[in-house]
Amino acid sequence: MPVPKAELHLHIEGTLEPELAFALAARNGVTLPYADTEELREAYRFEDLQSFLNLYYELMAVLRTERDFEDLANAYLARAAAQGVRHAEIFFDPQAHLARGVGMGTVVEGLWRALAASETTHGVSTRLILCFLRDESAESALETLDAAKPYLDRITGIGLDSAEVGHPPVKFRAVYEAAAALGLRRVAHAGEEGPPEYITEALDVLGVERVDHGLRCMEDPALVERLVRERIPLTLCPLSNVRLRTVDTLADHPLPAMLDAGLVCTVNSDDPAYFGGYAGDNFDAVRQTLGLTEERLRELARNSFTASFLEDDEERRARYLAEVENYRF
Ligand code: ADE
Ligand code: ZN
Repeated sequence: MPVPKAELHLHIEGTLEPELAFALAARNGVTLPYADTEELREAYRFEDLQSFLNLYYELMAVLRTERDFEDLANAYLARAAAQGVRHAEIFFDPQAHLARGVGMGTVVEGLWRALAASETTHGVSTRLILCFLRDESAESALETLDAAKPYLDRITGIGLDSAEVGHPPVKFRAVYEAAAALGLRRVAHAGEEGPPEYITEALDVLGVERVDHGLRCMEDPALVERLVRERIPLTLCPLSNVRLRTVDTLADHPLPAMLDAGLVCTVNSDDPAYFGGYAGDNFDAVRQTLGLTEERLRELARNSFTASFLEDDEERRARYLAEVENYRF
């Protein structure tokens, strides 16, 4: 049994495995520009974030109905559960679907069908986080928040993703203020490909409680000191960083140095169908390649629950944390 963990950085659209993509394409009469799953897998060689995003958005064409989103989420939850995920805070990208004529209700209700049953079906508790695409306009983000208003009982927080460089957090000040006024929790991708200044801006301008990736904080010792002092969790995604060439090889990943510096690190899968592994695979990879001790792995698992948005269910958080402390590696 793998160590119990929470997954805090997971794009549900990034869990679309080639087999499911072709099954949904057939069901919906969508033609994909790949002959079969093998040819599609050939396209999974990325130069950088943008080259991945191009394929990620292209394959979303197969997601059309509530049932598609339900099937996608169930497939993820089953795989995650098998790798020790006990709690998942799941990102979704509504603008990518709205642009294709798929409504907010179709996306949220479809995902919700799987999430509402997840504790019973998979033994995984869940939260939903709506992400804005930072390469779209600030006005589009505000319109998207508006479109989500009928579904806010199902949405815990907001995030910010897609192409980072050239789209600093400050661009989204207004929508983050509006979301905060609605009682939504706030996170944002920052410091994946973008500079450390974007991390500072996400904290100071957007008021984020966690930073997604945050890897490039290591270039700024004063920022590291602040993140340690304020105990801001970072949701790291080691296999993603390798595939998107943010680091050269996994052996070069700064995770051990980040833990040594006292940063509150968590390990997550980002887009597991594209990056070669789910949450447990990421834990296994850093354990093997970076030589993390059992106590470090326990710390990562503990951090995942302390950093999760379980303030409305502290009993559950305590139960999960007790599982981590009692776990025998
Ligand atoms: N959307 C899906 N995965 C992403 C990532 N790693 N960075 C930015 N946007 C994303
Ligand atoms: Zn991400």
